[in-house]
Amino acid sequence: MTGSLFAVSDLHVSYAENRRIVDGLRPETDDDWLIVAGDVGELFGSVERALRQLRDRFATVVWVPGNHELWTHPSDPVTLRGRDRYDALVGLCRDIGVLTPEDDYPVWLGEGGPVIVAPLFQLYDYSFRAPGTSTKEESLRRAYKAGVVCTDEMMLHPDPYPDRESWCWARIAETERRLAATDPALPTVLVSHWPLVREPTDVLWYPEFAQWCGTDRTADWHVRHRAVAAVYGHLHIPRTTHHDGVRFEEVSLGYPREWGRRGGEPRPMRRILGAAS
Ligand SMILES: [Fe+2]
Ligand SMILES: [Fe+2]
Repeated sequence: MTGSLFAVSDLHVSYAENRRIVDGLRPETDDDWLIVAGDVGELFGSVERALRQLRDRFATVVWVPGNHELWTHPSDPVTLRGRDRYDALVGLCRDIGVLTPEDDYPVWLGEGGPVIVAPLFQLYDYSFRAPGTSTKEESLRRAYKAGVVCTDEMMLHPDPYPDRESWCWARIAETERRLAATDPALPTVLVSHWPLVREPTDVLWYPEFAQWCGTDRTADWHVRHRAVAAVYGHLHIPRTTHHDGVRFEEVSLGYPREWGRRGGEPRPMRRILGAAS
């Protein structure tokens, strides 16, 4: 098998300019896979359209939820909240043949393989606190005072959990169980919307935003679970960094005002494994 494992995230297809870019995403070979690391969009129907489009083109598509898919947006006819919404998104992916964190982890057998590709949904728990604060309450208060409050506070409902951190911790427990059961002889590519380690958030323009970006509980997953690469998005700061010798790839497209500033036509698909043909 030839081909490459590509990744992209934060397609935010509510913007026409971004839909045009998604329209142009194409594999290089018939064997290419595409990881879509969350924030496709907010509306159920638009997430479905974009994922269908990509599924028609790539041999395998692997999706993880971003915070935007989990919003219950007032203009969405699909009014599901919290875990029910996530379950419905998983059901949608099953209908159209897209893999999710609820499926058996696929094994990439192309160049650089065999490698387990593990899509993860872990959310966040406010442990990436604002500088100088030591509790969630204090950290949130600081964010409200600075006027830097993630829309998740209004639209990402944790039902049936009491709060988003409880949902996060339930996901962490379940995901730990899944990862512990993987073949220890195989390396992994870990895929999540939120970074597994805090360091990538150090460059955020507003440090108060970090509390919506991950959890300390995943800080050693890339080491413990044999990652050759960790793929994430959410920060809208596409770049490559290394943590404990593991390559971390932030693969976001982001909003038109963000990629427009960088100049030129964005080429958001990042090659994670494989070689240019
Ligand atoms: Fe995003
Ligand atoms: Fe996000």
